[in-house]
Amino acid sequence: MKLLASQVTIVPIFLLLTCASARPHTQGFPLLQARSNDTANPISSPQGWNSAALSALPKIDSAHAQLSILNSAYPSHGIFIVHDEPRTVPTSNVLFNRHISAVDPGIIWDSTYVWNSYVVSSGTFTFNKIYNQDFLLGGRYYQYQDNLTFVPIGKQNTVINTTTWMANIDGSLLVSGFTIPGTHDSAAQTSRVSWLPELGGTQYSYVPDQLLKGIRFFDLRVGSNSDPLKLRHGMLELDGTAADVFKIFQEFLATHPSETVLCSIKWDFDGTGQPSDFEARLEGLFNDGSHGSWYTSPNLPRLDDARGKVVLLRRYSGNLGFYMDVANNTPDHTDSTGQFRVQDLYSPSTLSDGTPDYNTKWNTVKKFLDSHQSFNSSQLSLNFLSAVNIEGINVLYKPAVWANEINARMQTWLDTIESQTANLGIVAMDFPDVPGGDWNFAIKEMMAGSGQSLLHVSGQVKLIERLILTNFA
Ligand SMILES: *[C@@H]1O[C@H](CO)[C@@H](O)[C@H](O)[C@H]1NC(C)=O
Ligand SMILES: *[C@@H]1O[C@H](CO)[C@@H](O)[C@H](O)[C@H]1NC(C)=O
Ligand SMILES: *[C@@H]1O[C@H](CO)[C@@H](O)[C@H](O)[C@H]1NC(C)=O
Ligand SMILES: *[C@@H]1O[C@H](CO)[C@@H](O)[C@H](O)[C@H]1NC(C)=O
Repeated sequence: MKLLASQVTIVPIFLLLTCASARPHTQGFPLLQARSNDTANPISSPQGWNSAALSALPKIDSAHAQLSILNSAYPSHGIFIVHDEPRTVPTSNVLFNRHISAVDPGIIWDSTYVWNSYVVSSGTFTFNKIYNQDFLLGGRYYQYQDNLTFVPIGKQNTVINTTTWMANIDGSLLVSGFTIPGTHDSAAQTSRVSWLPELGGTQYSYVPDQLLKGIRFFDLRVGSNSDPLKLRHGMLELDGTAADVFKIFQEFLATHPSETVLCSIKWDFDGTGQPSDFEARLEGLFNDGSHGSWYTSPNLPRLDDARGKVVLLRRYSGNLGFYMDVANNTPDHTDSTGQFRVQDLYSPSTLSDGTPDYNTKWNTVKKFLDSHQSFNSSQLSLNFLSAVNIEGINVLYKPAVWANEINARMQTWLDTIESQTANLGIVAMDFPDVPGGDWNFAIKEMMAGSGQSLLHVSGQVKLIERLILTNFA
């Protein structure tokens, strides 16, 4: 959508090069050696890096410099840089920690200093390597999966800062009018579920990290005998209260005034009914000045009217906020006003052999994705990717297992609209920031610990970023 595209900030990734002599250009500054003798992909052959200059730089700056040089030399090619041994990724979007041992035809490369840099000379190539990772460099995203084709999947020259991405969205759009990544049971970070964490836990990161990573829809469930605002997930209590989360919103929005947070609040306690003063308690917090500035009109606001605020989405009985009528376990429900549509098939029946019915869940998710709406739609669409099979206390197919599969399918679906813009509405996910293919992550250990193995291994990082990018050309 032109409207949005024109708003995109082009963030040059060549951050470093503060000294004039290192200014990137192709003339007189040899870049890299052509290694490929693949005549099907003739590419001009620079003669090698200025290794001394690059080595004199701090490592991360060296990588940025190489990228900058390569971008300049190969403006229409994909470029990525990997480290040659596992190490911690120093920022969320720049460097990588995976060892690449083989170089395939179709790319030319040079290994310099600490980094390996690759120039992709064709649209796709296959990585014969076991690790999963994806890449955001040079303004483009790349993803590869085990033995699968590596494809440039990004939006050229669009780099988003997940902390402030809404700054680039047209503020006259309704908050239902563009894609918003969200989390399901947002406060149910695995480490905050004291009992049955693998059943009750749905998130790897807690709310502050989710905010930094670009999540803007939060799904809070509350209720208990002692404190109506106690956070919970179904029958399980979580650490903290809704008020604690509101404080986190307040702090984030105070420092990021371009952003808005959509917060769904659900009364979720079977033990007692919703107390008669429940909404009054919430209202007290909304108005006390230290739990965020709230937008509580029943109509959805335009983004400009919601920036710096928390928009209340109500799933309890009361009068404030936009009411979300979420039918139980529904594949597709539109409320009587037509202003709200939801997919929340959270517990699809297992197949006759006892395995999860991923296809049924995915097809309900995909139906929403395929019927994505125009920008500025006045109907709020809420699409939950989360699911679990609850069949006795010893749940086999936990939220993490489902997320691994469905999030991976989501990644693949996003490939299909890579060159387009799309308003997917709210996409609410479990573990959106956990690469299911990476055995280092705790969630995977947890699954292995309970005797499970992954059925579908794939890279699924950058899911949040890619959802945000659907708003931009
Ligand atoms: C590419 O060049 C190298 C070194 O010159 C040679 O050993 C190799 O056989 C060549 N590969 C192909 C596919 O021609
Ligand atoms: C990838 O290819 C290698 C070598 O052909 C093979 O050993 C391995 O099993 C493959 N991995 C997957 C996940 O297919
Ligand atoms: C992203 O935005 C935040 C907040 O404005 C800022 O602190 C941070 O440096 C930005 N990151 C990049 C990579 O520009
Ligand atoms: C979106 O809709 C709102 C409400 O109808 C309107 O005020 C606004 O101008 C529209 N924005 C765009 C970009 O169409």
